[in-house]
Amino acid sequence: MNLLLYGAPGSGKGTQADMLRSRFGIPHIATGDMLRAEITAGSELGRKVQPILAVGGYVPDPIMIGIVQNRLQQPDCARGFIIDGFPRTVPQAEALDELMRKLGRRFDRVLYLKVETEELLRRLSGRLVCPACQRTYPPGKQKCPVDSTSLVQREDDKREAVKPRIEIYLEKTIPVLDYYGREGLVSEIDGRGTIEEISQKVMAALPLSPPLKGRSAGPAERSRPGAGVKQPPAARKE
Ligand code: AP5
Ligand code: MG
Repeated sequence: MNLLLYGAPGSGKGTQADMLRSRFGIPHIATGDMLRAEITAGSELGRKVQPILAVGGYVPDPIMIGIVQNRLQQPDCARGFIIDGFPRTVPQAEALDELMRKLGRRFDRVLYLKVETEELLRRLSGRLVCPACQRTYPPGKQKCPVDSTSLVQREDDKREAVKPRIEIYLEKTIPVLDYYGREGLVSEIDGRGTIEEISQKVMAALPLSPPLKGRSAGPAERSRPGAGVKQPPAARKE
């Protein structure tokens, strides 16, 4: 299963990717998480990209394409992957297409989580993240339930960075949707509702996916990702 999660900042890509990762046992490749890990490690790349992320800008395409090319060729991607945060520009989409062709892979679905701007702003202003495992949570918790690390606010969730992030998404990333729309790969999912409700819709949009019974599936279910009833993907509505 090769999946692409698409949506605005705060639309729930990371949240749903976490569900899909435990459901299918395939890696979640989140370019934002990878960049933040470089910043935390203090690497040369991290020092270069830190000021860009802090103001909500986009890291140059050649850097991002190089990172993703390298990551998708790692052995853990052999059974499939969930990409979140890439491609964000049309040149990135073109480069990813070429890479997928080279690897002999294709996307099964592009899942577009559609959420209105007011709700995005509400979610981002309250979001907390675990600096250790990168999981995100709505307000209320102090520690990560998975590894007990103290939760923090992301630097780019501060008020001054949020607006530019949404603006650049509208300008540079919306055209990427047209790119995949032409291939008939996009399932548009109404991102309103609880996390569990959205998870149900995400699962229903997948080819050959079993019905979702709970947030995380048991090991037997995880090992049979292709079992179950086929749900036709939703048509794209514009
Ligand atoms: P990235 O980390 O990818 O950030 P983003 O796209 O802005 O998306 P977010 O992670 O903010 O949102 P999300 O959709 O994952 O939402 P979440 O699940 O957390 O990128 C960061 C930066 O890196 C970029 O700005 C750029 O600088 C750089 N970058 C990365 N990739 C790049 C690329 N390809 N090219 C160039 N630059 C790149 O949910 C948000 C909140 O809402 C959480 O608190 C969550 O708990 C809550 N929530 C989720 N679902 C629901 C629900 N249904 N109801 C209520 N609350 C909910
Ligand atoms: Mg995210």
